[in-house]
This record gives sequence, structure tokens and C-alpha cells, in this order.
Amino acid sequence: MRLRQILAILTMVMMSATSANAAEPILIRFSHVVAEDTPKGVGARMFKDLAEKKFPGRVTVEVYPASQRFDDDQVLDALLLGDVEMAAPSLAKFNRWAKPLQVFDLPFLFRDVDHLHRFQEGVVGTQLLQTMLPMGLQGIAYWDGGFRVLSANVPLSTPADAEALVFRIEPSDVFQEQYSRINAVGIPMAFGRVADAVRQGVVNAQENSWSNIYAEGIHKLHSNYTELNHSYLGYMVVTSSDFWQGLPEDIRTGLEEVLLQVRAEVNRLAAERAEERRDRVVAEGGVAIMRPDAKKLQAWKDAWLPVWENFETEIGPEVIEAAIAAGSEQ
Ligand code: LMR
Repeated sequence: MRLRQILAILTMVMMSATSANAAEPILIRFSHVVAEDTPKGVGARMFKDLAEKKFPGRVTVEVYPASQRFDDDQVLDALLLGDVEMAAPSLAKFNRWAKPLQVFDLPFLFRDVDHLHRFQEGVVGTQLLQTMLPMGLQGIAYWDGGFRVLSANVPLSTPADAEALVFRIEPSDVFQEQYSRINAVGIPMAFGRVADAVRQGVVNAQENSWSNIYAEGIHKLHSNYTELNHSYLGYMVVTSSDFWQGLPEDIRTGLEEVLLQVRAEVNRLAAERAEERRDRVVAEGGVAIMRPDAKKLQAWKDAWLPVWENFETEIGPEVIEAAIAAGSEQ
């Protein structure tokens, strides 16, 4: 009898040890649309390396770059369905989900990256990370990308030069309005299709960061670039709130620390790449780059600043005011 009891206890101990060993690590599938060798691509990789190092055997991260798994217009639904756990769409991709986030799309609002960061790190910017909570999505970090520049096969010095051109744009109502105001057409299109659309003449102009222009080879297709820097292509790292809140406390806090480390590196890289990729575009593409003088810049501002008015109610005047105020804080 005693021997039987001892055997039963031993069996139970062995079974529980086996099931503990078999406990699956938490899987985080990180889906994004850009090349691996871009600030966001490097950031996703770095998140994987640091998260797995911090939680060996407890966290596994799989990164799916270059729209391998989802386009940005599918990925937020995919997060809610549990098909992926993390994504980092550009802020212009949240149009359908959170109108206040359109503040990031407003032309000529953020003067420079410091201005953008002060807003993102302030009270309102931090609240905006939570703005999709009622829909089950949670922002967990902002990452930098780069200021947008325009490109085409004709010089775009003033808004009149863009008339009748067809621009590929991100799916933002603000961008759509911008281009219709200058009698151009803005066609929202998934990032993965841009280079082909330019090649096939579906669009004959576009706007993006230097890093994305270089990575997609646009510099081999378009000869003229205008450094308008009218809006900033930044990202929100986003996850499903059920997934994030369901993580063990130590893992969630640990991953938040990792995200801070990654943010610092992505932002450093984005600043470095803005210059470096621009230089490569010139060296490899032999393209013409124009930085508008004060008069030409004013013509773009005159055309695009009135766009703000149409979005003030949707975004919320207090959000716009906070963004403007962040420009004068030091
Ligand atoms: C785009 O669609 O042009 C960008 O948002 C892509 C990206 O993620 O940088």
C-alpha cells in the first residue's frame, strides 16, 4: 500500500514537471509593411532580440516584414482576431479607427522632430495611445520614421505644378483633402503596391520618407523630389488590449522596458537615415532635389493650411492646441 502511494506521488510529480517543461512560450507575431533595413524594420528585429533575451523560453517573437502577412489596412482587424499580436502602422493608417490621431497628418503642424516628440510625450500625446481602447486596441509606443517629401517625374516647386497629377497617398482623409485642394488626385493605396503602381503609371507622383523612398527603389522611377517636409511619417506600435492586459505582469512590464530601448534606437536611426538615405538617393538615382525657398513654401502653406479647419471638430480643438503648444515648449 505504501509503495503504491509513493509510486502515485512520484507519477504526479513527474507529470507536473513534464507539463511545466512543455509550457509554451508566449508567441508575439509582429507584422509590418516596410523592408527590414528601415528604422521600423530594424526596430521590430531589435524588439525580437531583446524580448527573447530578457525572457528566454517564455517569449518568442516572430517578425513578418514587407507585408508578408498583412497590409496596414488589414492588420488592425488581424490584431483583434488574434492573427498577430503586434504591428506598427504609420499614424496616417488609423483614420478609420480614431479621428483624433489625424492630428499627426495635419500639414505643416510639426516644425521638427523635437516638436513632435514633445507632443507625443506630453499629456495629450500619451492619452492618444489609449484612444482606441474602446475598440480593443492599445498603443504602446510611438516610433519615428521621417518627414514626407514629394516625388514625380516633373519638378514640383509650387502647388500649381502638381495640378492633375495622381499621387499615391496613405489612407488619410487629411491627405485626400490636401491633394484635392491643389487639383491633384490622391489615391489611397497599400504600401506594398506603391513601386509597381509608379512603374505601371497607375500613379505618377507620391509622398513618403527618404528611408521608404530608397527602400522601395522609387528613386529609380522618379526623377524629381521636393523636400517639403509638410508632415511627419511616424508610427504607433499597437497591440490588442486583451492580449497586452492578459500578459503576466512581469512580462508586460519587461516588454514595456524593451519598447523604450527600441524606441530610442529607432528614433536615432530615423534621424540618421533621413540624411543618409537622401544622399544615397542622389548618388544612385541621379535625381533632382528641391528645397522650396520661403516664397514657394508659403504657396504650399497657403494651399494646405486651410485643410486644418475641416478636421478641427473630428480631431478636437484641444488636441490641435496641445500639438501647437508643444512647438513653443522647450
Ligand atoms: C506608407 O504606407 O507609405 C508608409 O506608412 C509605410 C510605412 O510603414 O512606413
